[in-house]
Amino acid sequence: MQIARSVSDLRALLAPYRAPAFVATMGNLHDGHIALLHRARDLGDVSVASIFVNRLQFLPHEDFDSYPRTWDQDCARLEAAGCDVLFAPREADLYPEPQTFKVQPDPALADILEGHYRPGFFTGVCTVVLKLFNCVQPRHALFGQKDYQQLMVVRRMVQQLALPIEIVGAQTERAADGLALSSRNGYLDAAARAEAVQLPLALRALADAVSGGRRDLEALEGEAMQALAARGWKPDYLTVRKRGDLLPPAADDDAGWHSLVVLGAARLGATRLIDNLEASAHPQATHFVSSPTPHRGRLAGSA
Ligand code: PAF
Repeated sequence: MQIARSVSDLRALLAPYRAPAFVATMGNLHDGHIALLHRARDLGDVSVASIFVNRLQFLPHEDFDSYPRTWDQDCARLEAAGCDVLFAPREADLYPEPQTFKVQPDPALADILEGHYRPGFFTGVCTVVLKLFNCVQPRHALFGQKDYQQLMVVRRMVQQLALPIEIVGAQTERAADGLALSSRNGYLDAAARAEAVQLPLALRALADAVSGGRRDLEALEGEAMQALAARGWKPDYLTVRKRGDLLPPAADDDAGWHSLVVLGAARLGATRLIDNLEASAHPQATHFVSSPTPHRGRLAGSA
């Protein structure tokens, strides 16, 4: 694996290639990132990962300073996974001057849900992702579906700005109990880690209620939030939305009800977790985005 610390080094390394496949990360890599890298190896003539903790997407009170930086382990994992090129710019390389030109995503998509609770988050994400795309010039870029809204925002940016990049979404990787893998899971102590699975279970219960015929979403979502709050969580949202635009389905919109996603964000102690699963109002059609069968069974409470 070759490591580029600057944009010019990266361009020199990638010059011989026509179709890089790219995985953008903030480091502290887990199996979800490595699964993306494996897909990148299949898709590109060179696989490229980036590690860059992007200040622009953190609010002042968030964990930018304490975000885990695990350089040695990350390099070892990428090397073992067969990554060809690692782009790890220093902040002064990617942002040599204050980044005053920013990508402003469509507020209809970016100011709801995560964007509501983390104002400016998707502006920061889009700005760095576009900049990384300009550095790497990938033909394919891979993103995990755990960050469902992020994946949608990036897809929309690529489409609206006519970037010649295919965005590939990959299913969420889960631990054996069903918790979505996330760099922030490392913040959880043993008790919180055991409790954390209640988030995907709550999403599963919501999805099942909808697939079982409930349409009173406000009441359902309120019950789900209260149930988590009663266990000591501080939920931001647990909500059922249409996959196409992340808005609530209208009562008479049959197609919308058949193509839903249940999204949740909640704080457990100081750790904020997010997760989602795709669902459908059609009986028996609800399923987890991530498909490892044992996890699915366990979360459904049937294993
Ligand atoms: O999902 C992430 O890790 C980050 O938001 C990303 C896409 C690497 C941009 O900083």
